[in-house]
Amino acid sequence: MLVSPSLLSAHFGHLDNDIEMLNASEADMLHIDVMDGVFVPNISFGFPVMKYIQRTATKPLDVHLMIVEPQKFVGEVRDCGAEIMNVHFEACTHLNRTVQQIKNAGMKAGVTLNPATPVCMLRDIIAELDLVLLMSVNPGFGGQKFIPGTLRKLADLRQLIAETGSKALVEVDGGVNHETGKQLAAAGADILVAGNYVFSAPDPAAAIHALKQL
Ligand code: DX5
Ligand code: ZN
Repeated sequence: MLVSPSLLSAHFGHLDNDIEMLNASEADMLHIDVMDGVFVPNISFGFPVMKYIQRTATKPLDVHLMIVEPQKFVGEVRDCGAEIMNVHFEACTHLNRTVQQIKNAGMKAGVTLNPATPVCMLRDIIAELDLVLLMSVNPGFGGQKFIPGTLRKLADLRQLIAETGSKALVEVDGGVNHETGKQLAAAGADILVAGNYVFSAPDPAAAIHALKQL
């Protein structure tokens, strides 16, 4: 299993320590949650903090934009060192164009679905995608409870990927812990995001290791 710990749950008073812990851990990438207070009812951080993370992190940055009009910021996100730029399906009127812009900027293109958006909405774009990020909570906050219907949705997504021959990886975000992670692994997830589970653990590197084994 690939693991992408979410820095939203890190301690921003000593971000360096947490990033160094992740650098030394088995984490495959770092999940960076950007919120604008419009698309989601919360504000997290923006480009200055991402630039800081870029300087310290040695792993690829998996950027999850929970913002309206993400197409306006493709250049900024690339300049912050993102390897993957995830935009929400619900935030993009011209998703095909936005996906091409992300790829033309040299990043991998990910599209994120809110819990109420069905997988079938991706049918005409999935062949272009490097990644699909399924939200297993309503985005905006860490530490929420996993929505169990995500498991059925994951099965729908695996079927769509098989039918279309898409190479997209499947990432799941929200309420992931060892238990829900096990269920998601069985249902075909490729990447697990985990915030609270990792950062509230007595030994975060061990929590990452436990998810890696799934
Ligand atoms: C929520 C964010 C998540 C969040 C996950 O809107 O997209 O990445 O950090 O946090 P946990 O793992 O605590 O649910
Ligand atoms: Zn996220």
